[in-house]
This record gives sequence, structure tokens and C-alpha cells, in this order.
Amino acid sequence: MRVGVLTGGGDCPGLNAVIRAVVRTGVAEHELEFIGFRDGWRGPLEGDTMVLDVEAVRGILPRGGTILGSSRTNPLAESAAVGGKSGLDRIKENLESLGVDALVVIGGEDTLGVAARLYEAGANVVGVPKTIDNDLSATDYTFGFDTAVNIAMEAIDRLHTTAESHHRALIVEVMGRHAGWIALHAGIAGGANVILIPEKPFDMEQVCEYVRHRFQTRYAPIVVVAEGANPKTSGEAATEQQLDAFGHIRLANRGIGQMLADEIEQRTGKEARCTVLGHVQRGGTPTAFDRVLATRFGVHAARSVADGAWGVMVALRGTDIVRVPIAQATSELKLVPPERYGEAEVFFG
Ligand code: F6P
Repeated sequence: MRVGVLTGGGDCPGLNAVIRAVVRTGVAEHELEFIGFRDGWRGPLEGDTMVLDVEAVRGILPRGGTILGSSRTNPLAESAAVGGKSGLDRIKENLESLGVDALVVIGGEDTLGVAARLYEAGANVVGVPKTIDNDLSATDYTFGFDTAVNIAMEAIDRLHTTAESHHRALIVEVMGRHAGWIALHAGIAGGANVILIPEKPFDMEQVCEYVRHRFQTRYAPIVVVAEGANPKTSGEAATEQQLDAFGHIRLANRGIGQMLADEIEQRTGKEARCTVLGHVQRGGTPTAFDRVLATRFGVHAARSVADGAWGVMVALRGTDIVRVPIAQATSELKLVPPERYGEAEVFFG
């Protein structure tokens, strides 16, 4: 059997570990043959491939990024249709002409959403859950999340000492446009004084109260804010240019962190500075946890292909890797539940 592999959406540490495990397992256990598709869904849409054999995956376990490249190309968008053919039809035709019998799709909500549609359209698809945001349903964790949290935690540790030296409030903006998992975990692990997440609009005056309270101790406040967090009063609408191919607002320049710093400075009279961690959270080598999780996902994805278990995504449940319908993972985002946020709130101020 010839199996295509692609990585789509925002990259994250551990993608190469999955690719390596899929290929090594498929070749060693099941005599599968692999072909790589470049840059997410653009690869199968345009028939852009690369060699993906055991030799190609040697040495990539600890490397960040993805040897296959990634993109946010959306085959379901109008622009993917060419010559009267829909994006999905073009993909199916290309798979057939390349002799590809099945596809392992490594991606987050958007990429796997397309995988679910392709499966409904008759293709043999297996999904692997990827995202630093950890917001995919049906799996306890996605790989990449642990690395992102550790990077953000280390940054917070460093910011504590400089904040104290200068008696400043430091605001740390982390990724997470719809879900605040990175902010929550990095904030708890780093001992943040306030954590602000998209799931719970915040009261600016309450945030300033926490900041004032912290300044009364000999320490300085650290506020961790997810890029998608909003003050209670905000109702800002996105313009066309601010949306990506999947219709998500691009938040990098939105500046919730800077807005908080300005507002805190104005309301408390204390100096406040903002650090935006941005894509640092997505780059570089994965943690041991992510390498192991990614490897296990890869092994089980290859086994699903060998079993002909189509339309499933491999998922972590407790300590086990299980198979769940892809559609179950993409039907709704996994958000931070109020009780989990409540555990963090104990330490605010
Ligand atoms: O989905 C992963 C993610 O890193 C989000 O946390 C972030 O909002 C988004 O991707 C950024 O996307 P891009 O790199 O395309 O700007």
C-alpha cells in the first residue's frame, strides 16, 4: 500500500517525530510505502510530493518544524477550486494518479476538518492531532503543547527577576486565540499573578487590583494573557484582511498584551511592559513528553492504516492511545473549563 503523509496548519514541535514514527512503523511492521506531500493541503491539491522513506526520516526525531513543510491552504475554500473542480475532487484525482491509497494527515482543527470531509468523500484517511494550543477535542493532549508551555514557563521565570529589579508589571502575551490552555498551564507553572484567557472576558479594574496588591509585597506582578483574551467591554470586529484561509483572525498585531500594559500603567501609575512570545513558542526542539507522545501517535497511525481503520484520529486517553472518529475531534474546540480556571484563580493577586 502507498501512503501519503502531510502536515498542515501552524507547525509545532514534534511533527518530525510523528513523521519518523509513521514511516518507521509502516515499513518495519507492515511493508507500507510512503510519499510526502509538501506544505499541508497544498501538496495533494497541486500534486507536489517528496521522497519519504526510512532514509529521509533518519535524524529528525529532535528537530522542530516539519521536513514536509506546512501551510494553511484550505481545499474547501473557493480559491482552491480550479477548472470547475472542487478542491476535494482535485485532491482525489491527484491521489489516484500518484497511486496513493491512503493519507495520514497530521494537523489541528482546520487541517483535520478537511481530512474529515475528504474521508466522507470516499478517501482513506487517518488523522493525528497536532497543535500547541491543545484545543482539539477527543484527545487529552496534543503534541507540541507541552513544549510551548515549557518555553512560556521559562520566559515567565526570567521575567519575574527583571520585573522585581525594576518594580515593574510585566505582561506576557502567549498564543491561544480561542483556548487559553497555554496561558493557563504556563501561568500556573510560572507563578503568574493573573492569567487571562479567551474563555473568560476579564474586568480591567479587577486586573489592576491584582497588580496593585502584588506591588504591596516585595515582588512584582506578572500577567499572562492569551492572545485571544478580551476585556469585558470589547466588541471589535475583524476586517477581511485580518482573516486567514480558514477564516480565523490573525492576532499577532492585535496587541492585547500591549493594550493591557498601557492600561495598567495608566490606572495604577506603575510602569508596565509587554513581552509577546509569538512564534518562539512553536519553534525548536520538542520536550521529552512531546517526543514520546508524537512517536506513540505515529506508531498507532501507521497501525490504523495497516488495519484499514479509516476516518479515525489517534488520540491520548489517560495513558492509552486510542482511535476516535476524526469528526468527533473537530466538531467543537476543547476550551478551558471554568473549574480548571478556578484552580488558577486561587493564586491571583
Ligand atoms: O494554531 C496554532 C497557532 O500557533 C495559534 O496559537 C496562533 O494563534 C496561530 O497558530 C498563529 O498562526 P500564524 O503563524 O499563521 O500567524
